[in-house]
Amino acid sequence: MEAEETSSEPSVIAMRISTMIVLVNLATMDAMNPRLSSNSVEFQAINCRKYLTLLTEFDNVSDGVTSNTHAFRQAIEHLSTLAADDGAQLVVPPGKWLTRSFNLTSHFTLFIEKEATILASHNESEWPLVKVLPSYGRRRDARGGRYNSLVFGTNLTNVVITCNNDTIDGQRSYWWDKFHKGELNVTRPYMIKIMYSDQIQISDLTLINSPWFVHPVYSRNVIIQGLTILAPVTVPNTDGIDPDSYSNTRIEDCYIVSGDDCIAIKSGWDEYGIKFGMLIEDLVIRHLTCISPDSASIALGSEMSGEIRNVRIENVTAINTESAVRIKTARERGGFVKDIFVQRMFLSMMKYVFWIAEDYKDHANDKFDPSALPEIKNINYRDVVAENVTMLTNLAGISGDSFTDICVSNVKIGLLKKSKKLQWNCIEIEGFSSDVDPPPCASLAKAAKSIGGDFREDPLLIENVQLKSCSVEISPLS
Ligand SMILES: *[C@@H]1O[C@H](CO)[C@@H](O)[C@H](O)[C@H]1NC(C)=O
Ligand SMILES: *[C@@H]1O[C@H](CO)[C@@H](O)[C@H](O)[C@H]1NC(C)=O
Ligand SMILES: *[C@@H]1O[C@H](CO)[C@@H](O)[C@H](O)[C@H]1NC(C)=O
Ligand SMILES: *[C@@H]1O[C@H](CO)[C@@H](O)[C@H](O)[C@H]1NC(C)=O
Ligand SMILES: *[C@@H]1O[C@H](CO)[C@@H](O)[C@H](O)[C@H]1NC(C)=O
Ligand SMILES: *[C@@H]1O[C@H](CO)[C@@H](O)[C@H](O)[C@H]1NC(C)=O
Ligand SMILES: *[C@@H]1O[C@H](CO)[C@@H](O)[C@H](O)[C@H]1NC(C)=O
Ligand SMILES: *[C@@H]1O[C@H](CO)[C@@H](O)[C@H](O)[C@H]1NC(C)=O
Repeated sequence: MEAEETSSEPSVIAMRISTMIVLVNLATMDAMNPRLSSNSVEFQAINCRKYLTLLTEFDNVSDGVTSNTHAFRQAIEHLSTLAADDGAQLVVPPGKWLTRSFNLTSHFTLFIEKEATILASHNESEWPLVKVLPSYGRRRDARGGRYNSLVFGTNLTNVVITCNNDTIDGQRSYWWDKFHKGELNVTRPYMIKIMYSDQIQISDLTLINSPWFVHPVYSRNVIIQGLTILAPVTVPNTDGIDPDSYSNTRIEDCYIVSGDDCIAIKSGWDEYGIKFGMLIEDLVIRHLTCISPDSASIALGSEMSGEIRNVRIENVTAINTESAVRIKTARERGGFVKDIFVQRMFLSMMKYVFWIAEDYKDHANDKFDPSALPEIKNINYRDVVAENVTMLTNLAGISGDSFTDICVSNVKIGLLKKSKKLQWNCIEIEGFSSDVDPPPCASLAKAAKSIGGDFREDPLLIENVQLKSCSVEISPLS
């Protein structure tokens, strides 16, 4: 779409020349450029909407310096009164829109046009503090509360956040500096957080410069598609997507560069996660490209106390990334991670191709249950090609709590020449293998039950959800 660049010109022309000529002029331009009278942009969504409002109906100053918070809030409040009747959408036209946190509403689409950027305010006093999540007790980087996220939604149904490939910019170097200096007592804001919601789509967006980007939690029926998420690889806690305690989700076609895990699947921390008891299940992740030199392409845990079950992962490309699909846990986490099916990974320049271990000693507080051992069972990997690997594996169960039914098949790993000798590190692990090169450790040497392991092929409900073709009419002149 190249129409946007003309959007401000006609009004300039209109001010300079007579009405007569403008009419002629517009008619001519109209023929050349349909955008002048109406321009429609096609996109795919779970639902199309009846009502549309342009953000410019509430504010025309989009210089990236003047706050547009009131415009976002008023526009969404206005649309919330219409949304029950077949839905409403807010279109963010080209420009730089500076805002602090705003809340979404139900039956609603936030559509960000090409050449529109939403910028997050870094005025700390403008960020409201909200309660920590019940399944965590506190967050990792601070004991106090947390700042609300930039785009926030709770108790919603049927929400779409999408774009013509343009950007939300967290402008977070401010927060990173403060975090590094230890000057923050509360958790830095996420970019998009959705809680207790049903039918959510987040798609075709570029997200940059944020601590933690996308965090859907306690929700179901979530589709995340076509996100480009970019953070400096040297900054911690820049997870791309954190699916947390929910069911029926598909994440596809995402490109993520991160200083932390590209995707981290979670379900609560220690006794808080166990008590809240909301597992994450029925999740499919496909076509992920990840660069994360110090973390995983996809991590399961370390907060997994509410349990993780039935995750299908397919077609992952990871380059210069520490590990592939890693399970993180700790002795006192409780919960389980089971029925995980990973297939078709291409990995280049990596430390650990397989890494499942208890590596996390930190706790929400000292009230955790020391006897709450995690169960790690039925973890399957097949069709893996890796090159320039340095360590190969770290598969270490817990003493008296072996990790079982770990199955690897059709795996070909090329080691970097200077790699260490101990390549298959296996402790308290039981499982199977077939066609693995270099040959696996003895505890995985038993032949796999079937070639390729027992993979579940039945599609998840969310895989059958078809998006509809919607179009937005954008008229630059009113
Ligand atoms: C912004 O400009 C458009 C087009 O000139 C106009 O219709 C609209 O009312 C303006 N919005 C505000 C808040 O002034
Ligand atoms: C957003 O929603 C939260 C939770 O309902 C509420 O506490 C907060 O005040 C809302 N913020 C705005 C700007 O309406
Ligand atoms: C930050 O926001 C507060 C509250 O809205 C305002 O009073 C203050 O002037 C802002 N500071 C800056 C530097 O813009
Ligand atoms: C949202 O839903 C949760 C879970 O049902 C409930 O505990 C909470 O009070 C609701 N919050 C709001 C703002 O309605
Ligand atoms: C968004 O960008 C991707 C990758 O550059 C491209 O394939 C896709 O067509 C773009 N989508 C739109 C709606 O412009
Ligand atoms: C953080 O907490 C410390 C000690 O409790 C306090 O001295 C400091 O002012 C707090 N910092 C902020 C930014 O609130
Ligand atoms: C994964 O990639 C393969 C090979 O490119 C392709 O045939 C297959 O359809 C892809 N799987 C999914 C779920 O898209
Ligand atoms: C792998 O390592 C070899 C030898 O060091 C190098 O020539 C090659 O470019 C590397 N491949 C990748 C994808 O980094």
